[in-house]
Amino acid sequence: MANGVELDKSLQSIRYNRGSLWLLDQRKLPLETVYLDIKDSKDGWVAIKEMVVRGAPAIAIAAALSLAVEVSNLGVFSGTPNDAASFISNKFDYLVSSRPTAVNLSDAATKLKEVVQKAAATASEAETVLQAYIEAAEVMLEDDVASNKAIGNYGATLIQKQQKDPKSISVLTHCNTGSLATAGYGTALGVIRALHEKGVLERAYCTETRPFNQGSRLTAFELVHDNIPATLIADSAAAALMKDGRVNAVIVGADRVAANGDTANKIGTYSLALSAMHHGIPFYVAAPLTSIDLSLSSGQEIVIEERSAKELLNSRGGLGEQVAASGISVWNPAFDVTPATVISGIITEKGVITKDETGSFDIKSFAQEVATYP
Ligand code: MRU
Repeated sequence: MANGVELDKSLQSIRYNRGSLWLLDQRKLPLETVYLDIKDSKDGWVAIKEMVVRGAPAIAIAAALSLAVEVSNLGVFSGTPNDAASFISNKFDYLVSSRPTAVNLSDAATKLKEVVQKAAATASEAETVLQAYIEAAEVMLEDDVASNKAIGNYGATLIQKQQKDPKSISVLTHCNTGSLATAGYGTALGVIRALHEKGVLERAYCTETRPFNQGSRLTAFELVHDNIPATLIADSAAAALMKDGRVNAVIVGADRVAANGDTANKIGTYSLALSAMHHGIPFYVAAPLTSIDLSLSSGQEIVIEERSAKELLNSRGGLGEQVAASGISVWNPAFDVTPATVISGIITEKGVITKDETGSFDIKSFAQEVATYP
């Protein structure tokens, strides 16, 4: 990764023009706005692993575009169309190894590998395959914002419908699911933006989201930036907030949703869902269809990333000075799995997945239906 460049204060985590990719270094927010020049898939891998860019949709797009930049700047590729397809596939396998829990990255790998294999089947030159890859990676960036806006609309309408006072709604969210975690607008934070745009958001509450503080550093930054009425709470204040009757709904994002609706998301999501259930508050997951993994029957099969002990031992999620006692051992899972039983609905860009009469989500049928009638 090349040295950072200080640019204007912005919520754009991914800046791309064909042949160049700049990623906002989210480790430095909210104090500094520094973009890193990503020259190839190796830079992309490091940026994802080290949390320069994070959030399930953003890491998939950043990975795809880091490889697009590498391909754009390759010069002459000496090889057949099939060689070009294998080159892309191997690079993507490497990129997928950066972080395991978010399915969006492996979903992008599968789809983009299909694109290059299809192109290789008919192409007479490797260049055609590489060009097809670049164009498909660029479409991912364009599609994400539209998908998030649709999630925002479906989510805001749903939440409003279920409230006694649909004109004054307060929502609690966790981690960062906004412009910084996506190509723009956001998923759960997109729903909050949509409620605010409709003029019905009383207040958004965001948790700090220890240990990496995606909530206090990133979500709080986005909410203040957009002048959305918002309050930051310690993770441990969430149950008290709910007991006080200050929130009408909890809305979070997802890193991977299994076929039964069990959802992996930022550590602490499960506790919020249990608290919400206890207090009779609806708990929603907002996620694009690319976050759904129908190959897994339940959340038990989801691989949970464990991150460095340093994130707990030092302040600022491992980036600052030591705060914990030397010698203590640490368990630091980055995500947890919230069982479908405590999730009220899953908001996607194609509509809301609700439970059937048996109290289960039939995500497979939903996915089939929306694929047939786009
Ligand atoms: O470790 P992170 O910051 O990548 O975790 C992010 C989350 O858990 C988000 O809630 C999820 O990726 C959805 S982002 C739209």
